[in-house]
Amino acid sequence: MTSTVSGNRRTFAIISHPDAGKTTLTEKLLLQGGAIHLAGEVKARGQARRARSDWMKIEQQRGISVTSSVMTFEKDGTVFNLLDTPGHEDFSEDTYRTLTAVDSAVMVIDAAKGIEPQTRKLFEVCRLRSVPIITFVNKVDREGRPLTEILDEVADALALDVSPQGAPLGMGGLFTGVLDFASDTVAKPDGGSKEYLGRREPFEGLDGLPGELAEEIELVREGYPAFDLEAYRNGDLTPVFFGSALKNFGVEELIAAIDRWAPPPRPQPSEDGPVAPTRDEVTGFIFKVQANMDPNHRDRIAFMRQVSGTFRRGMKLTPSGLGKPIAVHSPILFFAQDREIADTAQAGDIIGIPNHGTLRVGDTLSESNKVRFTGLPNFAPEILRRVVLKDPTKTKQLRKALDDLSEEGVIQVFYPEFGAQWIVGVVGQLQLDVLVSRLEAEYKVGANLEPAPFATARWIKGSDAALKAFADFNRANLATDRDGDPVFMAKSAWDVNYQAEKNPDLTFSATKER
Ligand code: G4P
Repeated sequence: MTSTVSGNRRTFAIISHPDAGKTTLTEKLLLQGGAIHLAGEVKARGQARRARSDWMKIEQQRGISVTSSVMTFEKDGTVFNLLDTPGHEDFSEDTYRTLTAVDSAVMVIDAAKGIEPQTRKLFEVCRLRSVPIITFVNKVDREGRPLTEILDEVADALALDVSPQGAPLGMGGLFTGVLDFASDTVAKPDGGSKEYLGRREPFEGLDGLPGELAEEIELVREGYPAFDLEAYRNGDLTPVFFGSALKNFGVEELIAAIDRWAPPPRPQPSEDGPVAPTRDEVTGFIFKVQANMDPNHRDRIAFMRQVSGTFRRGMKLTPSGLGKPIAVHSPILFFAQDREIADTAQAGDIIGIPNHGTLRVGDTLSESNKVRFTGLPNFAPEILRRVVLKDPTKTKQLRKALDDLSEEGVIQVFYPEFGAQWIVGVVGQLQLDVLVSRLEAEYKVGANLEPAPFATARWIKGSDAALKAFADFNRANLATDRDGDPVFMAKSAWDVNYQAEKNPDLTFSATKER
């Protein structure tokens, strides 16, 4: 039955600030799941992949991954789909959108640094969608902050209940292992590198610990709420694991927790109400489109999060944007080592669908063409730039390029009612560099980006009359997005508030759901 099969899927992402240890943890998760056999594979593989996609010169120059990928591993009968989110500070809508395709998230924080800006931003997106979060406090093999200070910071900064599931017995030079509360055992370090190699000993009790440490451990164990599955699943409580990705501590416990507690594929919101994973027909939505993964083809890969049904190769699905069915002959499942042809896939799985630009982010795919998923938002750009062509005869190429790239989610594009200069919007600076480099490399269009006279954009909705009345006064600040929907280009946040108060018949949204 579909329901039991999809019940063993855990589709999740890791959110973190750069350097907290996401790559290291990913690698350890894959190792435990038997997906890779050599330490260092994840990074090496990433570099090899980057080397192949030369349009992404920026990735090489900056040594970061702009694009997300999907990794699948299996342990004890559970299939884990890990969606990678770029960890760089200049992240894109891609990152946000990836979080719309997961059922839960693991938040990695550095024991010495606590909650950092990027963690908080990504957390906010999870909260918007009530995505449940398991917290992994990393690097306890090094000096870190007092445990209660870290726990209280997570609780305060994110307004969440925290429920510690274990504690390191000392940190840095005093580190002697990680206590797991549930089993009352201690994972012990071994060998010259002081790694966890599988040795677990019964906890000898607080009496065996130095006074201060005993007190701290007791506080962590007794002073916080017990785990509550419902509160976790609602996004109100986060279980906290302490560990060291580098030394392999806490990784076993983390996988077990995802297996045991993280939600299996959840129903997804649609225009006609939630679509359950048990629904018979195959449905899914595109959360990401990526060009040029394979340099031999100019194809794009659209990433579909499957919501229901049992997918089989060659199946016909109708994309909401197209209206007529397409046969999905060469779907791709992204395994850690290789891309493999998927024969079947279940709710919760991610399928890569090669196409020539017919599939767009936000599209629903279904057998019946009767489903429309909602809730895949565009986010108000934080940076706006005017695109100025170096060669003015290339307007047509530029328009095509901007439409394509906005389709992929690299940028958003706004066509002002007045003036010939188009505005691009991004949520991170890095996207601008990607844009300029791809315009040149792929579309042979030279362009400069200049400051735009606007600070932010809001999608506006209301009756035709209300929109017209607003337009009559604000034409210079009006634009349309690539779908032709009206957008208010604001000079400041103040401007947005002012107009929102002045025009109670209109809504000004920072996100747009397709
Ligand atoms: P990121 O993907 O979140 O950006 O972080 P990444 O895993 O690349 O880790 C950032 C740095 O932190 C790396 O060191 C990594 O080895 C180290 N690190 C990760 N987990 C732990 C841990 O549990 N304990 C300790 N002590 N260090 C950890 P680096 O020197 O920047 O890179 P590398 O040369 O070691 O790869």
